[in-house]
Amino acid sequence: MRVKFFKDKDLTSDFRYNRAMKKLNKHIILGVTGGIAAYKSAELLRRLQDTGATVQVVMTEAAKEFITPLTFQALSGRAVRDDLFDSAAEAGMGHIELARWADLILVAPATADFIADLAQGRAGHLLSTLCLATDAPIAVAPAMNHQMWHNTVTQQNLSQLADRNIHVLGPAAGHQACGETGYGRMLDVPDLVDSIEGIFANDLLAGKRVVITAGPTREALDPVRYLTNYSSGKMGFALAEAAVEAGAFVTLIAGPTVLDTPNKVERINIETAVEMNARVLEHVEDCDIFIGSAAVADYRPSEIQTKKIKKTNDTLTLELIRNPDIIKNVSALKNKPFIVGFAAETNDIIAAAKNKLVNKGMDLIIANDIGRKDSGFDVDSNEVTILSEEYQEAMPLMSKKLLAKKIIEMIAKEN
Ligand code: PMT
Repeated sequence: MRVKFFKDKDLTSDFRYNRAMKKLNKHIILGVTGGIAAYKSAELLRRLQDTGATVQVVMTEAAKEFITPLTFQALSGRAVRDDLFDSAAEAGMGHIELARWADLILVAPATADFIADLAQGRAGHLLSTLCLATDAPIAVAPAMNHQMWHNTVTQQNLSQLADRNIHVLGPAAGHQACGETGYGRMLDVPDLVDSIEGIFANDLLAGKRVVITAGPTREALDPVRYLTNYSSGKMGFALAEAAVEAGAFVTLIAGPTVLDTPNKVERINIETAVEMNARVLEHVEDCDIFIGSAAVADYRPSEIQTKKIKKTNDTLTLELIRNPDIIKNVSALKNKPFIVGFAAETNDIIAAAKNKLVNKGMDLIIANDIGRKDSGFDVDSNEVTILSEEYQEAMPLMSKKLLAKKIIEMIAKEN
C-alpha cells in the first residue's frame, strides 16, 4: 500500500484555499503599487475571483516596473486602469463611477509611499483618487523593508489610516526580498482573502430572522399589459446583503427585477401586491425584523381581462381597487416584529414620513427623497432621513450598498 505523506505546508495551504471559496460575489478594485510583492497580486486576483468577486485592477506607474498590466488583464479579463486622464477609459466607466462601483478597494501591495499619499488624502494619481472618491471600505496590505515599516512617519501614517477605519492587513514578519529579516512582508494570499471575508462580515444581527420586501409589484390589466413602477429592487437587495453580512437569516420577497440573489439569501419571487402580502404573512410570523422596501402598488385593476383590450375608443377608463397594505397587516400581528418601512416622497418628505410611521405602526421609517435624479428609483445611490418617533438623522447622498449597512447598524442598535 502506498501512503501519501502531506507536509504541514500542503495541508495548510489546501485548507486555506478551500476556505477562500466562500462566495462573496463582490466588486473589488485591486490596487497594485510599486513593490516586489506585486508578483503575488496576480495570485491574489485569482483567489479573489474564487470568492465570486469581479476584480478591476488599478496600477500605479511604479507597479508596472515589477509586473506588466498584460498579466492582470489576461487574468481579470478587464483592461487595467492606470491613468486618471485616460479619455478612452473614462468614456467607458469614469473614475467616479468606478469608485462607486467598488464594494472594496484592496491595495496589495501597498508601499510606504502610497500609504503616505493615502494618509495625506492626496489625489495625484488614479488609485489615490479612487480611494478619496469611494464610500466603500478600503484595505491596504503593506509591503516594505522592515526599517521603513518601523519608521515613525510610516507608523504615524498607519495610525491615521486606522483612525479613518481603513483596514491595515498585515504585514507579516520573515525573510525579505532585500535579504534582511523582519516585519514588512505582504501577508500571504490566503490570509489576505480571509481578512477580506472579515471586512464584510459582522455579528450585529447574529441569529436574527429578517424578512425584506424589495422591487416593484406588477398588476395585470390583460394578457399583455400591467401597471407597475420604476423600482429596480437595488435598495432592498442591498439591505438583504447587508443583513446577511451582519449574521442574520434573510428571506427576501421580491417583485420582478433583473438582480442576482445575494449570497445566502432565501429569495421568494412574486408578481402582485396580493401575492407579496400573502408570502410576507406566511414568513413574518417567527421573524425578528421586517423591512418593507418594496414599491408596492397601492391599487390594482378591479378585473383582469382574459382577452387583450382592443383600442376601439379614444379614451379608456380603468377601475382600480385598493391593494392590501402589507406593513399595516404586519403591524396588526399579535407578535409583531420590529418594523422598518420606507416613504418614497417628492415633497414635505419628513412630515409625510412621520405620518406613515405612526399610521402604519412602524418602529423606524426611511424617508426617501425621490425628487432628484441620483436618489430613489432605479439608481445606485440614495439620499434619506432615518426617523423613529424620538429620533431623526439626515444621511448624505451615498451608495445604496453603504446606506444599507448604515440602516442595518441602526436597526441592530434597537434589537
Ligand atoms: O428599488 P429601487 O430602484 O432601489 O428603489 C428604492 C425605492 C425608492 C423603491 C425604496 O427606497 C423605497 O422608497 N421604497 C418604498 C416605496 C413606496 O412604495 O413607498 P410608499 O410611501 O408608497 O409606501 C410606504 C411604505 O409602505 C413602504 O415601506 C411600502 O413598502 C409599504 N407599502 C406600501 C403600499 C402597500 N400596499 N403596502 C405596503 O406595505
